[in-house]
Parts: sequence; structure tokens; C-alpha cells
Amino acid sequence: METRVLIMQLAYLLSAVLFILGLKRLSHPDTARGGNRLAAIGMLLAIVATLIGEQILTWQWIIAGLLIGTVIGGFMARFVKMTAMPQMVGLFNGLGGLASGLVAAAEFLRYSMGVAETAHVPLDGSISIMIGTLIGAVTFSGSLIAFGKLQGIVTEKAVKFPAQQFLNAVLFLGILAAMAYLILMTPDAIAATDTGTVNIVYYALWGGAMLLGVLLVIPIGGADMPVVVSLLNSYSGLAASAAGFVLNNNVLIISGALVGASGLILTRIMCKAMNRSLTNVIFGSFGQTTGGGPRATGEKRTMADVNDVQADDVAMLLAYAKQVVIVPGYGLAVAQAQHKLRELCDNLEGRGVNVKYVVHPVAGRMPGHMNVLLAEANVPYNQLYEPDDVNPDITNIDVCLVVGANDVVNPAARDEPASDLYGMPIIEVDRAKHCVVMKRSLNPGFAGVDNELFYLRNTMMLFGDAADSIGRILEEVKQL
Ligand code: TAP
Repeated sequence: METRVLIMQLAYLLSAVLFILGLKRLSHPDTARGGNRLAAIGMLLAIVATLIGEQILTWQWIIAGLLIGTVIGGFMARFVKMTAMPQMVGLFNGLGGLASGLVAAAEFLRYSMGVAETAHVPLDGSISIMIGTLIGAVTFSGSLIAFGKLQGIVTEKAVKFPAQQFLNAVLFLGILAAMAYLILMTPDAIAATDTGTVNIVYYALWGGAMLLGVLLVIPIGGADMPVVVSLLNSYSGLAASAAGFVLNNNVLIISGALVGASGLILTRIMCKAMNRSLTNVIFGSFGQTTGGGPRATGEKRTMADVNDVQADDVAMLLAYAKQVVIVPGYGLAVAQAQHKLRELCDNLEGRGVNVKYVVHPVAGRMPGHMNVLLAEANVPYNQLYEPDDVNPDITNIDVCLVVGANDVVNPAARDEPASDLYGMPIIEVDRAKHCVVMKRSLNPGFAGVDNELFYLRNTMMLFGDAADSIGRILEEVKQL
């Protein structure tokens, strides 16, 4: 083996080791920053090795791509809101899928246009090209629909029509037939006589796979999009892995497989935290009905049915409590109230109140959403707890302060077998001595299920934007 190739392969091996170690360290908040750094070093090494390998385009193209990517990436990092992150991740997955699909297409065209070193396409090469094309195109179009649903460009509702599954099955079989034809034909035919037909079938494969991506995602409701985005993230990894096989690039194969596997694990964790199966997410149209909450019983509740309180009442309750549990939810992210919340909690701690933040695994709109927000406000990791850490003793908690959370504290998930949420583990704030819920109205949360918690005797509702409410409580606490 040529020395340069040997160095490149060794560098790739080292990159892969750094990716794996980085991922391992990401599993704990204390080591996560270091893990991220290790993985970034691995990526830098892989890029440098690829450039040194000189199996690349001209430097002008690389520099132009780098500049364009940096400007777009910098713009997004600066201006995209935290609450819009799920759709951003969705878009990135789609672009990853497209890039992998284009690598496969470029390789196909190299043979079909007769510019490859040899006219003979190896069987493993043509299998990789077809798989890369299929997964890349499905990931691209599916992710665009997921992005559109989360961004409100495409209807959030599940779009269903008669014989939908049958149509999907027929389309999938057609795609498989096209792939089989191309794989069997390509070893000699791509660069030989019948390139016209082969090309047409290949473009039809692209069209069919893009259509399949759209058809697979439109019947899924907006409420389940974050899970779909995580699944598509896994697909984008598989597409990258397939591109690695196409290019014979080991580091792409390994990193793609890592993304594929971790995306799948994350999808599973999210489904488990919502007590849903993946099949139910894909075919279930979650969030389309009100489910078994109070509204389903026919009772129409109004503001008159709740215990509406003001900031000074809550300040008094918090300042003289011994144990306080904070439950952050999506509304905390909308209000961007994390810094004020931390200030309030610091003040309470200074008064000798024991404060715990309890984070539900699916609070917010993306995995780790609350952890990121709280880390942004420098809340120490040792103050973060999981629901199982507090639920058994929650009756001893003086005040549970629910900041913009709704579904993750809905008792219907525990008590109402007819509810859409039934079976989802919750933080049982309704069992605490007092519960204060901060939100702007009595509207339901993401799942569209009403919440009996708001009407319980030990619940107090503090209406308004969470940032304003916390600011007012803080002012009152400071006066006490
Ligand atoms: P939600 O149930 O969506 O409730 C959030 C609440 O925040 C809303 O009821 C809203 O009520 C309130 N809110 C919005 N803006 C606010 C503001 N500025 N100030 C105060 N309150 C505000 O949130 P959750 O409890 O975090 O549950 C997450 C939901 O998303 C679950 O159903 C979960 O299954 C789903 N989900 C999450 C994920 C991940 S990975 N996190 C993935 C898929 C699905 P008002 O409009 O009345 O203010």
C-alpha cells in the first residue's frame, strides 16, 4: 500500500476511535463537553486526512463550499430561535440525505457517462449506489415534509386517504424492482449499449424514492414530528454509510453507522418516554383528538373553575417552603425564562429552601431541550433530577412550580385509560402539598389533551408569560 494511503487509513481509524470515545462521553453532562471536543478533533482529522489523500476536487471548489457553508451555518446559529431547533435538525437531516444520495448519483453517472477508469461496475459498488440513492432520497423528501410540518408550511394534521398503505406498498415494490434491474444490469450495461434505458430507470428510482419519503411522512401528525425527525436522523446516518461504501471510505461508513445506530436508540428512548410504540407513532395520528381529558367527559371548564393566584401569593408560598420542585416545560423555552428562573431559585436557596429541578425526558420539543436551557442559565447539574427520583416522595414536597409544562404533568396519563396520554410516565405534581402552574391560558399542551391538574384544589394557576410571572415573583420574594 502506498505510504500516503496508509497514513490516510490510519488517520481514519483514529478518527473513528475518537468518534466512539466522544459519543461515550456525551452520555453524561460532566463529560459531555470533553466528548464533543474529542469528536470534533476526530472530524478535523478525517477532513485533513481526506484532503491529504488528494482524491478530491480542486481546492477552489472546496474553499467555495467552505465559505458558503460557513456563512449559512453562522447565520442559522445566530438567528434561528431555540424553539425552532427541531425543524432545523430536520432540515439538516434532509440535506445530509441529499448529499449522500448525490454521492451515489455522481458515482452512477461516472459509469454511465463512461468517465470511470473501468466500464465494469463491481456488484458491491452497484448495490451501494442503489441503496445510497434510495435512503438518501427518502431521507431528503421525508425530512423536507417534517420540516414543513414543524414550521407550519405544511399542514400539521395527519394527511390520510383511501388505500394509502396499499399505494405505499406498490410504490415500494416498484422501487425494489427498479433497484434489482439496475443492480443486475449495471455490472456491464451502464457503460455499454443500453445506457438510455438504464438512465431512465435510475432517474425513475430517484423520483419514486422521493415520493415514498413524502408519502411516509404526510400521514404522521405534527405532534409526532420530533420522533420522526429522530428516525430520519438515523436514516441520514445510514445514507452516509451507504455513501461510504460507494466511495470506499471507511470513516464515512463508520460515522454513518454511528449516526444510524444512535438515531435509532434516541427514537426508542423518545417512544418509551411517551409510552408509544414506533408503529403507533408512524400509523397512529397522535394528537388529532382531545382524548380522555376533562373535555371528553362533556364538562366544559372555564376560568371560574380554577384557583387563580397572583405573584405575591406565590412568592409567599415559595419563600416559606422547605422543599420546592421546579418542573420546566416547553413554555420555559418559549418565554426564554431560564435565567430569571435560576435567579429566583438562587434567591430561594439563599433563604434555606431546598430546590430541585425535575426534568421529564420529553419535556419541550426535542431530546435534552430542558437540559440545554437550564445549562444555558448555568443551573448546576447536581440540582437536576429525573421523575423517578422525586415521584415516590413527592407528597413531602411543599411546592411544585410548573413552568410552562403541561402534558408531562397531566394526571390523565396515570388515571384515564381512555386518554391519548395514558401510560406516559409523568411528574406527579398533583400529589405534592401545593402546585403552582404558570402558563398563559387553559389551553392544552402538545398532545391536545386537557389537563385536570388545573382544576384540582391544591393547584394554583398563575396566568401570564412565564418570564413576566417569574420576574414579578422574584421582585416580591426580594421584599420578604
Ligand atoms: P406542552 O405539553 O406542549 O405544554 C407547554 C405549555 O407551555 C403549553 O400548555 C402552553 O400553555 C405553555 N406556554 C407556552 N408559551 C408560554 C409562555 N410564554 N409562558 C408560559 N407558558 C407558556 O409541553 P411539555 O409539558 O414540555 O410536554 C412536551 C410535549 O411534547 C409532550 O406531549 C411530549 O410528548 C411532546 N414531545 C416532546 C418531544 C421531546 S423529545 N421533548 C418529542 C416529541 C413530542 P399556554 O398556551 O396556555 O401558555
